[in-house]
Amino acid sequence: MRVPARRAKGDGSRDRPPSREDGAPVPSSSVPVVPVADSAFVRACWSRPVDRVPVWFMRQAGRSLPEYRAARGPGSVLDAIRRPDLAAELTLQPVRRYGVDAAILFGDIVVPVAAVGFGVDVEQGRGPVVDPPFRQIGDLDRLRPLDPAADTPYVLETIRLVTAELDPLGIPLIGFAGAPFTVASYLIEGGPSRLYARTKALMRGDPGLWAALLERLAGMAVASLRAQVEAGAAAVQLFDSWAGALSPSDYERSVLPATRSVLDGLADLGVPRIHFGVGTGELLPLMAGAGVEVLGVDWRVPLDEARRRVGTGVALQGNLDPATCLAPWDVVAAETEDVLRRGGGTGHVFNLGHGVLPETDPDVLARVVDLVHATSPADLCASGKAG
Ligand code: CP3
Repeated sequence: MRVPARRAKGDGSRDRPPSREDGAPVPSSSVPVVPVADSAFVRACWSRPVDRVPVWFMRQAGRSLPEYRAARGPGSVLDAIRRPDLAAELTLQPVRRYGVDAAILFGDIVVPVAAVGFGVDVEQGRGPVVDPPFRQIGDLDRLRPLDPAADTPYVLETIRLVTAELDPLGIPLIGFAGAPFTVASYLIEGGPSRLYARTKALMRGDPGLWAALLERLAGMAVASLRAQVEAGAAAVQLFDSWAGALSPSDYERSVLPATRSVLDGLADLGVPRIHFGVGTGELLPLMAGAGVEVLGVDWRVPLDEARRRVGTGVALQGNLDPATCLAPWDVVAAETEDVLRRGGGTGHVFNLGHGVLPETDPDVLARVVDLVHATSPADLCASGKAG
């Protein structure tokens, strides 16, 4: 399960990394390593100076990796998540392959609700399906509080296995959870949705039940994320993937309080909190004020414009359009450099604007990582001021 040295360059070196084919582990004694808390990723999350812009990719595990498909086996992704050896291996695969600055736990946003027996599965190619869906007050009884040690011991074991591997290399692990709105949307719609009509109908038609549902989900997210950090995660990301379906006023009134309670519930842990949603350009100022160190931005809003919208109090994460990675390399390189320039070198975690598309060539992502690492944050800072 060992991660090769390409992934362990903690020195901001611009030298060509070892070739991608060189999968052999290198003794960690030969690798200059900084503690995880001082890694480029964690430093950038806290908007501290860095010697390179850190990079990782949402949905970097799975999908486009042949080694994922080989290791994953048949069945629901939830079955893979319940096997710590396999989940740890799937967490580490993209770190080896791409040389990213952080791993993200192999899990899913529906793991806590599935673990308390709500009746959730994840269909390949479709996403989470819920049967029966959440409809009425009695359904709250199906959402008892999460006890991570008893309900999801496999998640904590996976984190222990992964961090035993990555901590000595100075590579942080990101834990994650789904934000109350996005998880609620799956429970209410019964599966993926385009319009979130039933979700909005419950939100507007029965505000009391809506608030009770979001409060339960917020409690589960806090419990899960706290346990993930206690098991070794160095940062957390709260995915509100589908919050962009809401107007700012609906978001502020009906969603933000529950999201804020999740983020506030993590404040004492001292790890960076990342918050992200798709199509949230109009919500960015509200999300930035929810209690975060890092705000994820999708590809629709350039990072310099996002910075204008949220001010200087948070770091930004993003935001290369995942579809760009399917274009010829010179296009990918130009857009990567554009994102870096707009990010300004500090307080920027490079990422895609949403998850890796399944048809992405893994070599393109590895080249993006190399390009980001080869770019000096100081030069970006200077060009940002000049421009
Ligand atoms: O890098 C990673 O992929 C790490 C693990 C991870 C998964 N899901 C595994 C998974 C993460 C971080 C998630 C988060 C997640 N899950 C989100 C938030 C991020 C986002 O994309 O906005 C959401 C909305 C979900 C719900 C979900 N689960 C969806 C929409 C899908 C996709 C359906 C598909 O096949 O395209 C899933 C299934 C899922 N979760 C897969 C993986 C690797 C798909 C592949 C498989 O079943 O093996």
